[in-house]
Parts: sequence; structure tokens; C-alpha cells
Amino acid sequence: MAAVYIHPDPDSLALAAARLIAQEACRAVEERGCFVIALAGGTTPRRAYERLAEPPFLELVPWQDTHAFWTDERCVDSADPRSNERMARESLLDRVPIPQGQIHPMRCGSSGAAARYESLLRTYPRLDLVLLGLGADGHAASLFPHSPVLSEKERWVAPAPAEAVGTDGGTLPRMTLTAACINAARHVVFLVSGAAKAQAVKAALEGRPGLVDLPTLLIHPVSGALSWLLDREAAALLSGTTSDGAG
Ligand code: 6PG
Repeated sequence: MAAVYIHPDPDSLALAAARLIAQEACRAVEERGCFVIALAGGTTPRRAYERLAEPPFLELVPWQDTHAFWTDERCVDSADPRSNERMARESLLDRVPIPQGQIHPMRCGSSGAAARYESLLRTYPRLDLVLLGLGADGHAASLFPHSPVLSEKERWVAPAPAEAVGTDGGTLPRMTLTAACINAARHVVFLVSGAAKAQAVKAALEGRPGLVDLPTLLIHPVSGALSWLLDREAAALLSGTTSDGAG
């Protein structure tokens, strides 16, 4: 069962997300000596990453024991404004004392790149936290409706074919964590903001099971937690009353 937290506006959503990431980081390092996170792409997480790079979280998070992966990447140069790596570096990783050797961007486009990323990921302990955004079409990471990657049960990382129409207005080849990988995490957190996502949020949280064209319905951590951090606009079409505040 997913925990749903609704915040008044994008700024309070970003603060709640930064707080949750910091809490998970402290707990992971206390219990297991390291914190392994998979960062979401797109635009929604930017404000949360910026908050995480500011006091008090800048001092709270055990950056020396933090290892950063990505949930997905567009196959563009890391300097390209559409790059998820660029967004995370600008808003967070270039502003905190995380060791450079503990930052693992996806480099997609060459053959075998997904397999190499998976091999690296498998040398780490279980992902402690996976952050996901939500597309208006119900996609998460680069798991788009009707994509062949949705049926991947074994691999943890896969190329997402160029026919997967991206939210960036064009069809970009991508690389993505698979649902099998995401569902193995200790905690999966969706960060969703804005009225444009309200329909997709309703379908994901209240939709009919088996809606095959809704990738988010594949996201069910096997033994981990699932949380949705929403702002009021993104939650506007939900019928149930859900908790405000924490999370
Ligand atoms: C990507 C993201 C993608 C994103 C959603 C929401 O590379 O595009 O991984 O899954 O999270 O499309 O994007 P916004 O946060 O920009 O609305």
C-alpha cells in the first residue's frame, strides 16, 4: 500500500522531499554504513535537489558515504540541457561534498552501456532510495506506455528505444532502470507536482489494476516502501482523503 503525502505547493513539496532524502540517508548510513540513491530526472526534482544542497540538509546528509546513480538518462551529451546528469549536477552534486568516485552517471548510446551500468549497480548493496517523477502519460523513469522495456523481468538496466516518445518533445533514445530493479529498492518515492499530472496521479493511485498502458502500475516494491509526495495540484483529482504533511 502506498503512502500518499500532499503538500500545499511545489516549494513545500521540495522541502518535504529533501527532508525525506536526508532522513533515508542518515538511516542507511547508521544501519549499513552507506546510502545508495537513484536520482530522478526531468524537472520536478530540481527544487528538491537544491534544497538538499542547502542548510540544514547540506550538513545533515553523510555525503562521504553516499553513492549516486540515476533512474534514467536521455542519450545526449552530459552538457546538453536535456541531460538528467546535468540537471542533478547543477542542482545538487556540484554543491555537496560527495566524493566524485561515488557519482555514477548513465552513459548511454554505445552498445553494452546498459549492461555495464547494471554490472556496476550490482556491485553495490540494494538501492536504499529510488526517486521517480511521473509523466502526464503515466511513465516513470524511461518506462513509457507500451514500451518493450515494461516486460523486462530479469535485467536491471535497459536501453529504452527511440520510439519511446519522451516528454522532452522529441523521441530521444534513453537508458532506464527497469521495474524489476526499481521494485528491489528499500524505498521508492514519486515526486509529482502540477495540475498537468493530476490525471496520471489519479490513474496510478486509483486506477483499475491491469491497466497495461500505465507503467507506474508496475512499480510495487517487493519488500520495500512506496511513497507518493504530491502537491495539491497534482493530487486534485484523488477521491480519497490523504494525509497532509510528513513525508
Ligand atoms: C526523464 C524522467 C522522466 C520524468 C517525467 C516527469 O528523463 O524525462 O526521468 O521520467 O521524471 O517525465 O518529468 P517532469 O518532472 O519534467 O515533469
